[in-house]
Formats: sequence, C-alpha cells, structure tokens
Amino acid sequence: MLINMWYVVGSSAELAPGTSKPLRMIGHDFVLFRDSDGKGHCLSDICVHRGGSLCRGGVVNDTVQCPYHGWRFTGEGQCVEIPSLGPDASIPKRARVDSYPVAEKYGWIWVFAGDLPESERPPLPDHDFFPEYGSNEYRITRGSYLFNVNWMRAIDNILDPAHPFHVHSDFGHFEDQRLKRFEVEQHGTATLSKHQFKSMPKRGEWREGMADERPDTLNQIQFNMTGMIFRNDIHPSPGMHHMVFSAYLPVEEDKVLNTWIHARNFFTDEKYDADTIRRNYAVLQEDAVVLNHVAPLKSPRNFTNELFIESDIHIAAFRKKVRALEEKGWALDLKASDQDDLARAIPSPKRTDDPKNWVLEPASVRHFKKQQAAE
Ligand code: FES
Ligand SMILES: [Fe+2]
Repeated sequence: MLINMWYVVGSSAELAPGTSKPLRMIGHDFVLFRDSDGKGHCLSDICVHRGGSLCRGGVVNDTVQCPYHGWRFTGEGQCVEIPSLGPDASIPKRARVDSYPVAEKYGWIWVFAGDLPESERPPLPDHDFFPEYGSNEYRITRGSYLFNVNWMRAIDNILDPAHPFHVHSDFGHFEDQRLKRFEVEQHGTATLSKHQFKSMPKRGEWREGMADERPDTLNQIQFNMTGMIFRNDIHPSPGMHHMVFSAYLPVEEDKVLNTWIHARNFFTDEKYDADTIRRNYAVLQEDAVVLNHVAPLKSPRNFTNELFIESDIHIAAFRKKVRALEEKGWALDLKASDQDDLARAIPSPKRTDDPKNWVLEPASVRHFKKQQAAE
C-alpha cells in the first residue's frame, strides 16, 4: 500500500458538522470529523497520551476529544486542553497528532495520506475527468462495496477489458468475446484505453431504450492514480451513455473499498434507480466471486510471473506506475512496522516542516531497488 496518495474515504453527506467517524485506511486508524463551519478534518486516531482511540470520543468545540482522559485536539492535530492539568497549564510541545489534508469533490471526502508539502501533492482530477457530474442530463446513483481482496488485484480487474464477457452476465457477448486491438494513452496523470466489442443481446429493463440493430458497444476505461479513481464509459446503443465512476481505497493488504457513482443519460426518472443500483451490485458481486480466489494475494512485481497478453496492457501500465512510486520509497512495510509493537502514524505534512517532537514513530516504508525494464 502506498503513502503520499489522495484517497477517497467516504461520502461527504455522511459526515455531519460536529460529528466524527472512524476511518481505516492503508492499515492504519484515523478519525474524520467535521467542524461547525463545515470543514472536514482527518487526524491519526491514536491519542499520544496513552493510546486512546480518538474516534471513540466526541467532537467538542470543533476539536476531537479523547474518550480516555479528555485531551482535545484541533483539526490541525494540536492539543488544546489537558483536563487533569487544569485550564492554565502549558501544553507540552509533543501533545499533537498527525493531521492530513482533506478535500471534498463529487460528494466524496478525499484525504491525502502522506507528508508531501502542498506544492508537491498531485492536484485532484479536473473537470474533464467527470464533466457529467452535476449535469441535468445525467441521473446519478451512488454506493460502495468492500472487496476482500488486495487493492492492486481489484484495480487490475477494472483495467482488464477481457474479463467482463466471461464474468458478467450483463456485459458483452458471450459467443464472441474478441476485443479490437487497443492502446493505452497517457492523459496527464491518467491512463486511457478504448475498446469495442460485439454488443450483448438486448435484455432487462434497459432493452426498451436500445436500437434493434446495434453497432458494437464502445467502452472507454480511464484510470487516475490520484484518488485511485476509475471511469468506465459505456455506449451500449446510439444515444445511450452510462458510466461507472469509482474510487478504490486500500483498507488493509487484503481489503479494498470501492466507492462508486453511476451516471446515465437514459431512463433518468428516479423509478429506474433501484434497477441501476441492483445492476451495479450484481457486477461487483460477480467480480468478487473471481477475485476472492486469485493467487497470490498481491499482484506480482515482475511481469514474468504471470502470462500477460495484449488485453493486459492497461494493467501493465498501472503496475509500472505503482513500481515507480514504490521506488520513490512510498510503499508501506507493515511487517517492519509490526516488529516492535509500537503504535505508528502515517507521517503528515507537518512532520516535513517540523520533524522533531512527535510521540508516534512514523510508519515504516520499504526501499526497493530500481528495476530494469525487462518486459
Ligand atoms: S489516552 Fe487520550 S487523553 Fe489519555
Ligand atoms: Fe468486472
């Protein structure tokens, strides 16, 4: 799992002003809270006093309060009250917890899990990545789904245009699974591949809107490491356009949370929402049936340990990106972190400016040697 990444951690609507909630991300605990001005905050969950879990306390005067001895921390992670010392006591310098940048976009909360200063953080995706968001022509539904699978395996799966015919009952033509040759284009920090395949026979509620003589289905897959977001555009019939816009949050090595938005420009009446949501969950469930049993748990670092063919080239592009980030020293080493039984925090930007006077050790990272491009 990688640090120094933006991750989508949940829905903005589910964090009311004056409330907090737990967040588990990249194998660490955090607390999310919203202050009375509506601004969202994310702190390391472990109280530096004696390890209380901040998300189990409450929000008091725009601070989170530890449930153990009542220390209070601001959205910047600064302790402002130690009840047992009384109101006039000076607060020790080390009485602070890591605080992480928070942004909100597409109705989602985004957290930057790392210590890069603002100038070095990648920007959130721009308008071009999801211009349909907020448009009257598109009807939106939302949901989330927890896969018990490694995050790289889940992302490999969404970049794989060959599996849907085989795995999903509602996608492509089982009798003719050929894919036209495609390339992976680089668009800023995103990669894009376009696919064309024989349309499935008409069925389900959506068949009413489809032309009798349908050309091939056009499908476009776009992926951005910022937020681990993915956009899958589908044009099942002329004039019909729908897409799944989803984000992947690595929770643990073997758990990844998919948060999705579906947008469609047909059957935009609310009464069709339930069928759309049902279809999305059916697809995710079908993926899980296969993914839960893929071995090994993590995608291999070397391409030679699997047999890649043409349809896997978008996956190869993704794995190369991950490797480049690992080589920057951004891959967590949870085994090393576990060795000394210490509580650790993902380092936050404040540690870069002010590296001393932190109670918790930073999470360990792995140091990979640069690999030759053998493939
Ligand atoms: S452990 Fe948090 S206040 Fe004591
Ligand atoms: Fe799938």
